[in-house]
This record gives sequence, structure tokens and C-alpha cells, in this order.
Amino acid sequence: MGCEQIIAGTGQPVKPHVHACLKTKTKRRGTLIGEALTLQELEKRYDKAIAVNGVSLTIRAGEFLSILGPSGSGKTTLLTMIAGFESPSSGQIMIGRRDVTYMAPNKRNIGMVFQRYALFPHLTAAANIAFPLRMRRINETLVRRKVEAALAQVHLDGYGDRYPHQLSGGQQQRVAVARAIIFEPPVLLMDEPLGALDKKLRETLQLEIKGLQQRLGATVVYVTHDQEEALTMSDRVAVVANGRLAQVGSPLELYRSPVSAFVGDFIGRMNFLEAGYLGRENGNHMVRLRGGNVVATAPAEDEVNPFPLGQTVSVAVRPERLSLAPHGRDRGAILTGTVDAAVFAGSFFLFFVRTQSGDDSLLQIQMPVGHVAASFRRGDLVDVIAESNALRLFANLEA
Ligand SMILES: Nc1ncnc2c1ncn2[C@@H]1O[C@H](COP(=O)(O)OP(=O)(O)OP(=O)(O)O)[C@@H](O)[C@H]1O
Ligand SMILES: [Mg+2]
Repeated sequence: MGCEQIIAGTGQPVKPHVHACLKTKTKRRGTLIGEALTLQELEKRYDKAIAVNGVSLTIRAGEFLSILGPSGSGKTTLLTMIAGFESPSSGQIMIGRRDVTYMAPNKRNIGMVFQRYALFPHLTAAANIAFPLRMRRINETLVRRKVEAALAQVHLDGYGDRYPHQLSGGQQQRVAVARAIIFEPPVLLMDEPLGALDKKLRETLQLEIKGLQQRLGATVVYVTHDQEEALTMSDRVAVVANGRLAQVGSPLELYRSPVSAFVGDFIGRMNFLEAGYLGRENGNHMVRLRGGNVVATAPAEDEVNPFPLGQTVSVAVRPERLSLAPHGRDRGAILTGTVDAAVFAGSFFLFFVRTQSGDDSLLQIQMPVGHVAASFRRGDLVDVIAESNALRLFANLEA
């Protein structure tokens, strides 16, 4: 009986049964099951720089966690320490209950996919995929069977005899994924595996990798600097900046409740408005927007320190939580401005509005197509309206 039938038959919520099903399969066929990965106060210092700085994080068994951060923030260094190609300056790495901090890479039982395909050019796809098994001196009949199955998993049945140069970029990356999963590692590391591919192919492979991970139940740590990729694929996302964890949470948590202006800026589109702090009123923090009105805001979680009166602060608001109205029609406008550009983006309009704040930045407002006000044109004088609770207060824009 297949998984689907078990789930359908129970009438129970699907998730726990998927898990139960994977366990059953494990016993029967040896399908891989993820193990938890624990990083404790992990640190990597080079001569002058600290690439990874005090990272503590537990990745649950079977979890898909993305590490998202700008170039040079320490993502690859973190991954290579987990894989064992670099040793940490201090800290500890555990896989399940095994301390692997100083264990050789090939003893850790970790699968790894690199940004560049890193296939052996002189070996066929099948031989590339078989490589980790042959290294482990697995019986040849079993190797062939596993390679066939792995080729099917990554939708490359019939391509086993081709050499890497006879495969497209996407196909080569599928071979790399197959090679990483063939020995059924409990932990799979991927360093920007889709970075070199075009957008369409990337989206297809994102779904395939995610599907594969769910079928296998592997624990995946996936490095990317593409926030959309991180949000769509992950159970949780760890945002890194300057070698430190800036925030770890579900995609929705990060999007809705960034703890710092850096995270808010990094995930999705975000407007930042300069304001002067006026004090508390009925539990809200009141500010006067530069070139605009007095508005109520809520501080982000991390902003525990009181804001001194008169201090310049930053108010963050997502474009889709703002709308436009003809000037003077609505009460409650937070700002007034002039439409600088209207961009049609398929399912929504994006308006760029120049406010009277005196700086050059344009405010972004996203409105659904079909909204009456979506007919604004360049040069129109408009009021900017914010949804209630849409404004977040930060001390400043630094990470
Ligand atoms: N072998 C090394 N010696 C000295 N400094 C290094 C070494 N490897 C990495 N670094 C430094 O550590 C920091 C983090 O590098 P890392 O490659 O981990 O960044 P990254 O987040 O993967 O960036 P990217 O998105 O560009 O791949 C950088 O400042 C980098 O210059
Ligand atoms: Mg990198």
C-alpha cells in the first residue's frame, strides 16, 4: 500500500502521517530520514576577518532551512564547516547525537551540492552518481539499481550514459543532486545550487528539490542570496549579516515581523520613512513623518530601548499595505505626494510617489489591478493611506 492510500484512508491531517509513512518506508526500503543538526557558538576567524561569528542554531530532523544573506556574509563558510571542508575556530557541530566538529568530511555522511556543478567531466552521469557508492565499495548490482532509481528521482531516466558536456546546465545540476542523495545522507547541504541557471529553470528545479526533500525526509540546509527562493522553499529561513544570525523564523514571521530594519529591507519590498519620535500615547509610539503627518507605530521586537524624544527614527511599511487616494478626499493620509511612475506588473500596479520629505527616495505603493485608484498617472497629486498596524518603528537602518 502506498503512502497516499494510508493518508486517504485515515481521514487524519496529512502531515503526521506523511512522517509516519516515511518511517515505515525507512524500515522496509532504507529510504533516508533526516537527522537534526545542531550548531553551537560556531565561529570561523581568518587572519583579519571573522567570517562566521557565534552562530547557534538547531535544524530539526527533516527540516528545510535556508541560509539567506548578502555576498560575503559567511554563508559558504558556514556550510563548509558543517560539511567538514573547513574546521571551526571554535564551537561545536552535532548531527543527531554525534559530535562531528573535527570529523573528516567523508565520515560525516553529509550530501553536498555546490554552486557550480562540480561533476567529474570524464565520467558519465551514471558514473558520477555512482561515485559515492563505489567509494563505499557497495556491491555493483546494487549500485546499478540505486543509480537507476536516483536518475528517475531527478527525472533523468535514460540520460545515464551522457557525459556532463552533453547535458544542459539544469540537467547537470540534477545529476549533482542525484549524486548527493544516492548514499542516503541524513543531512543534505546545498550552496546556491541553482545560482547559475535562468529564472524559469530555477523555479522548476526549486519545486523538484523541494519535492524530493519531502519524499525523502532529509534535513536540508540550503544557501541562497535569493530571498524569493528562500521564502518559497523553506520551513524556516536564517538571515545572516556579517557572519551573525540576524533572524531565524518561518517565511511568514520574517515577512510580517522583521526584528530589525536590515531583515525588513532584505525580505520583500519595504519602504523606510524618516520620522521624529514624539513619545507614547495609548500604547502606541507616535512619530511625525518627515514632510508628513503624525502617525501611530509599533516598535519591532528587538527595539527594546526607549526612543528619546525628538530622535530621528525609521518607520517601515510594506508597499501592499499602502494605498493612494486623490489628494484631500480621505482623512487619515500619512503623507501627500506626486506620482512619479506607475508600473503595471501583471496582477498589480506599483506606484512610485515622490513625497515632501525632502529626500530623493520614492515611496512604493502596490495596489491590485482593478482597484479604482489604480488609474493614477504620473504627475497626479495623491494622498498616501496606510492600513492600521502597518507601520513598524526601528531605531535606524543598521543591521
Ligand atoms: N579562505 C579565506 N581566507 C580569508 N577570508 C576568507 C576565506 N574564505 C572566506 N573568507 C571571508 O569570509 C567572509 C565570508 O565569506 P563567504 O564565502 O562565507 O561568504 P558568502 O556569504 O558565501 O558570500 P557569497 O554570497 O558571495 O557566496 C568574506 O568576507 C570572505 O572574504
Ligand atoms: Mg558563498
